Amino acid sequence: MKFDTPAGINPIDKGRVVGIPHDRIDGAAKVTGSAPYAYERHDAAPNAVYGWIVGSAIAKGRIAAMDLRAAEAAPGVLGIVTHANAGKLGKGSMNTAPLLGGPQVDHYEQAVALVIADTFENARDAAKLVRIDYTPEDGKYDLAAESLKGVMPPDSFGTPADTKAGDFDDGFAKAAVKIDQRYTTPDHSHAMMEPHATTAAWNGDRLTLWTSNQMIAWGVGEVAKTLGIPKEKVRLVSPYIGGGFGSKLFLRADALLAALGAKQVGRPVKVAIARHQIPNNTTHRPATIQRIRIGADKDGVIDAIGHEVWSGDLPGGSPETAAQQTRLLYRGANRMTAHRLVTLNLPEGNAMRAPGEAVGLLALEVAMDELAEACGVDPVELRIRNDVQYDPEAGPQRPYSSRKLVECLRAGADRFGWDKRKAKPGQVRDGRWLVGMGVAAAFRNNLVGKSGARIGVDAQGKVIVETDMTDIGTGSYTIIGQTAAEMLGVPLDQVIVRLGDSRFPVSAGSGGQWGANSSTAGVYAAAMALRAKLAEKAGYPADKAQFDDGLVKFDNKSQTLAALAGREGLWAEDSMEYGDLDKRYAQATFGAHFCEVGVDIDTAEVRVRRMGGAFAAGRILNPKSARSQVIGAMTMGVGAALMESLEVDTRFGFFVNHDMAEYVVPVHADIPQQDVLFIDELDDKSSPMKAKGVGELGICGAGAAVANAIYNATGIRLRDYPLTIDKLL
Ligand code: MOS
Repeated sequence: MKFDTPAGINPIDKGRVVGIPHDRIDGAAKVTGSAPYAYERHDAAPNAVYGWIVGSAIAKGRIAAMDLRAAEAAPGVLGIVTHANAGKLGKGSMNTAPLLGGPQVDHYEQAVALVIADTFENARDAAKLVRIDYTPEDGKYDLAAESLKGVMPPDSFGTPADTKAGDFDDGFAKAAVKIDQRYTTPDHSHAMMEPHATTAAWNGDRLTLWTSNQMIAWGVGEVAKTLGIPKEKVRLVSPYIGGGFGSKLFLRADALLAALGAKQVGRPVKVAIARHQIPNNTTHRPATIQRIRIGADKDGVIDAIGHEVWSGDLPGGSPETAAQQTRLLYRGANRMTAHRLVTLNLPEGNAMRAPGEAVGLLALEVAMDELAEACGVDPVELRIRNDVQYDPEAGPQRPYSSRKLVECLRAGADRFGWDKRKAKPGQVRDGRWLVGMGVAAAFRNNLVGKSGARIGVDAQGKVIVETDMTDIGTGSYTIIGQTAAEMLGVPLDQVIVRLGDSRFPVSAGSGGQWGANSSTAGVYAAAMALRAKLAEKAGYPADKAQFDDGLVKFDNKSQTLAALAGREGLWAEDSMEYGDLDKRYAQATFGAHFCEVGVDIDTAEVRVRRMGGAFAAGRILNPKSARSQVIGAMTMGVGAALMESLEVDTRFGFFVNHDMAEYVVPVHADIPQQDVLFIDELDDKSSPMKAKGVGELGICGAGAAVANAIYNATGIRLRDYPLTIDKLL
């Protein structure tokens, strides 16, 4: 089914199941431990043995010699995979460095061997006996130092390095009020709960990987390409995923090495990337240096806006596109943005938790706070004055499909009690605490992708949906079930949802907050096809048949779904494809974050006292799980503002704090109160679901609201994240 034109009224608009808060249909399985994760597939591969990854002890250089004799002789050892015996391997499209290194080493903790043994403990013990002599080479590990040298605009994946409109230099030079500041954000680690893990089994030349992966069809292609085997021989199964955050968008070392190990020892092999290996072995969000210049009139109306971003990656890598939102968020005739990429020999950078906007807004929304103060305009009002209802680089001929930033700012301010904020910093005391409030806009792109599904009715009238869409903890099972229930007129408990298997139709997958809207639109397409089949079988006109209460109805006649399905069941498959709507309409999601902090007058300890936000993201398919996602994302925003930072050892080129003890993330006790308000919005140009993404919106801007609240509390303006105590004293 092609989605080219606004959909008008459609079956989803009935709103009997979609748009109503529902518990997760997979919730009980998850909290009772009966949802099997990749490393736990004892059922599927009962005779599996265990692999332990040996990571490189240098960041750059070569392996001069490997001595495996002691490891091979250790108890229980069955085999050792290295570059010398793995055969010729390809490289996945997104893997900057080979997942199995050697003899060249590209980054610290790059996998250079997999030791396989009968037990986990034996594999881990034997791995310590692998002796490797390295010839290290000098590498570059310091973003600040490298960014001062000549840097290149990056090759990028559909995102231009530079954009321009009007004449930025002229507009900025003439502006009555100018902001020109530099902001920095550190390297971040995904820190999802479930480590990367795979159980691999070969059956002849067929490979099955029970793995933890956000994008199944892409993953199949990457496995096939890397191993040099046909895609048809590879199956990925990933029904439950304990968080992805971008770290499981594509193939990682666990999957490749489990496959190679299983081939070598002739038995299924399990591999997890151990927690302490994750920050250096896998990808991370690269650090940024950002310069923002804003020129406005004395009332704060922007005429010129410029945003330049420097980040680093391995050769062939990609930049952190942190100027993305500055291209689209505020008015201003004269504009420039630039992404610059330097070569660093740190581990691979890539997508993490709203790549681009999440750290771009940490800078832009503090700059807006600085502009508000410079102009003497309330920060909420400043953002309202600079709203624009079209893509400000393209002009009015590219309007937003829907954009309710102003509504979010107003409703959010009202609910939060923004009118109690004192404009002058350092005015409010509560015992030992200096108290302040901050606001920031939220912005995240709304992308849609082709997505397919298969849907059937069985002889009991149960509706079954199958798609390779993943649920990375986000609630996909439930919204897909709701969509099927709505379309076929059955209660949610009559729907069985099966996800995350490459035997099912290809979906958009989970990433970039496109998953919910795109995958449910694919289910919509398949359900429309099944409705037509059911109506035809009933002898009713397809466009007039009604689907209610497990019945297909026309005039005053009706038949049950179960009877129409018959003993064989009735199935249909289709996908939703999008035309060029994104060229005609800018699409994005919007929101407003509010935060109140207390800062201890003596110790400068910062405590978030409460957060609130208002968000407009099209139809909210399941307000309960959407709220959970936004709250989780706001929590990540607090992490970025106050805690999260991978510390680089610039001598040896690795992240020092590579575990959950020293890479600090917020916990429940860090944020006593979070409030989420969804603004009513139906976007009929986004998909027939009239929904947009919401999964990543909540992180975008949240940290800047914290930073602005700290300024309001203390009068100290911090621009170097995370905003730790040492910077406030
Ligand atoms: Mo997301 S960082 O695209 O999984």
